[in-house]
Amino acid sequence: MRIVAIFFSILLLGVNLSVRAGSSVTPESAAPGVWQFTFGTPDQTTPMSTRHFEPDVAGLKAMPQCGECPLIPTAEFTDRGVIIRIPLKRDEMIYGLGLQMKDFQMRGTKKLLRVNADPEVNTGDSHAPVPFYVTTEGYGVFVDGARYMTFYLGNKKKKPETMADAVMPPPGEEDGWNSLSWPYERLGMDQESEVIVEVPASKGVRVLIFGGPTMKNAIARYNLYSGGGALPPRWGLGFWYRLRSYATQDEVIAMSEDFRNRNIPCDVLGLEPNWQTHAYSCSYVWADRFPDPKAMIKRLASDHFQVNLWQHAFVNPISPIYESLLPYAGDYQVWGGIVPDFLTPEARRIFGEHLWNECVSLGVSGFKLDECDNSDFMGYYSFPEFSKFPSGVDGEQMHTQFGLRYQDAVLEVYEKAHQRTYGLVRNTGAFAAPYPFVLYSDLYDHRTFINSVAQAGFSGLLWTPEVRHAADNADLIRRLQAVVLSPLAMVNGWYLKSPPWKQIRSDLNVQDVFDPDWEKTEALCRDVINLRMQLVPYLHAAFVRYKQEGIPPFRALVVDYPEDKNVHNLSGQYMIGDHLMAVPVVAGQNTLSVYFPEGRWYDFFTGEVYTGGSHVTIEVPLDRIPLFVKEGTLLPLARVTASTADPESGKLTVRVYGQHPQPFTLYEDGGEYDPSLRAVTLTWDAARQQGELKGGSKRGFYTVEAWTPCGELKN
Ligand code: GAL
Repeated sequence: MRIVAIFFSILLLGVNLSVRAGSSVTPESAAPGVWQFTFGTPDQTTPMSTRHFEPDVAGLKAMPQCGECPLIPTAEFTDRGVIIRIPLKRDEMIYGLGLQMKDFQMRGTKKLLRVNADPEVNTGDSHAPVPFYVTTEGYGVFVDGARYMTFYLGNKKKKPETMADAVMPPPGEEDGWNSLSWPYERLGMDQESEVIVEVPASKGVRVLIFGGPTMKNAIARYNLYSGGGALPPRWGLGFWYRLRSYATQDEVIAMSEDFRNRNIPCDVLGLEPNWQTHAYSCSYVWADRFPDPKAMIKRLASDHFQVNLWQHAFVNPISPIYESLLPYAGDYQVWGGIVPDFLTPEARRIFGEHLWNECVSLGVSGFKLDECDNSDFMGYYSFPEFSKFPSGVDGEQMHTQFGLRYQDAVLEVYEKAHQRTYGLVRNTGAFAAPYPFVLYSDLYDHRTFINSVAQAGFSGLLWTPEVRHAADNADLIRRLQAVVLSPLAMVNGWYLKSPPWKQIRSDLNVQDVFDPDWEKTEALCRDVINLRMQLVPYLHAAFVRYKQEGIPPFRALVVDYPEDKNVHNLSGQYMIGDHLMAVPVVAGQNTLSVYFPEGRWYDFFTGEVYTGGSHVTIEVPLDRIPLFVKEGTLLPLARVTASTADPESGKLTVRVYGQHPQPFTLYEDGGEYDPSLRAVTLTWDAARQQGELKGGSKRGFYTVEAWTPCGELKN
């Protein structure tokens, strides 16, 4: 009997060992330049199995070839789940993993990718964790799990097999406490290492490898595999203002008139929670303070304002959709409301039909999807990880999917109506590039907000460093300067009565006590917003490339200059399209050290020229926004108009930077659901010192009013 038992244990041990040993599999082709490795039996619900958008195969085919799969991941199975190992080379730098507001280059760190609305600590918690990273070796890795995965990014090493392999401390460093670098575990960049990913509670997982050959190609490939980047309607690129939560219909109209009377451009007005009868949780029914929302929206539209409505997904019992949603909701409630299971088509349909009837059919052009990011760590505002949903997922899986599937529910309304939208969301995740929703946060550190613009671009995300209150007027101006150089230029005045330039102190603002100098502050703010309006055609062109080629419109310098070690840790500077480099400043900064990568760069405002490969300290008085133009650029600037709907905004001044600028392509976009996007190309004849605009439609939205040689040509 004993012998039989021993025999069986040996057998079991054998089985166990063979399952647990590291295993590798042969890659399959998932798309051109994308390889898929399937280890074990992947979970049923993952980002890949629930995706809303199909890969843009034509876009992927049109990309440069990237050769063989650049690396082979391996897997191990444990009682805790699956462990994936991906090799790392010496000096290889790692970026991405979604919106990591407080981080940038991540090699040497550990990140637990957990959805958290208050990511105060740099541990991987995020509004938008994404299990995708890229490296300076020019490839990307995606782990297709819906669990909270942990990424050990080159900081773990197994013990040696024998004493002979042990690494002894170098002479003089025997006292480990004195060694600052702790070289044994926290491997230096100058050694080979590996990324280890633990996927908990799973019996298998898919891993996708995105080929390069450059980091920019790898990101573009990921974005095209996601379905291509989002293209906002032109109005989405104008200026946005959100009114206080308790604003009434009359106040909204008055605010719209004030913007027009004060000559402050504005395209979108946002209404905050209390447009509804019940907001926490939501009824999605207009409150009495809006006696005739249809008339209001019509009136605003006649003055070229779009309306965006705040909401979250937790449905209050007074909502007309509560009862029909009950069977399609999770088993825990939030703020007394139910949590729709947006993984089910039924929940998306019921929710979407109501939004159509109550809001979108009236002309509401988009939504701000709040509170979908596990707002539970600082309060009690979300569903627990052990929740159960009718689709079969638990709360943890739902958290990594919630923002995406919530966006699906809203997007389906606009898709059905053949309308484009642009809005905001506080949680998103994998394959998010095609979603026309921009991330924001209640955290408010300005430096962190600026860093996030570049950081978001590694993983197919868009981020706005929105302006709310400010410590003083300088802080307000600096914040506004940064936000106009981001994917969504917005002031979120949800707790102010008047715009912050009238009174920065919210206690006085709500009492209508204006700053004695408010008109001066307003003038400064107007200038900053005007800059945004000038940049709309350029930004729109950058977004078209995002849609068609997957290249993020806002991206860190390391994406464009991976060979330049000076930019490997540079998070405060970023490219906007291919030609502009922004270096936003925080209040209190009087000087700024700017790094110029290769080539020559012109100051947007003064025309001063800087040579690449150098750090330069520049003065930054309050009215100076550090914005630089790369040599060889034709930069189209629009006439400043009250809104992007004004046809005058198609009248351009084209700035000519350098002797032989490249042609520049911008696009006519009539705002249709599937825009035909007629290309308009600007070219410059250096010999004749003359520019030409070619293409576009017969009636031509764009015309050039002036060609302005800038920089040295001027002198
Ligand atoms: C927060 C959101 C703010 C504002 C507020 C209204 O969750 O981040 O931007 O909308 O709710 O209650």
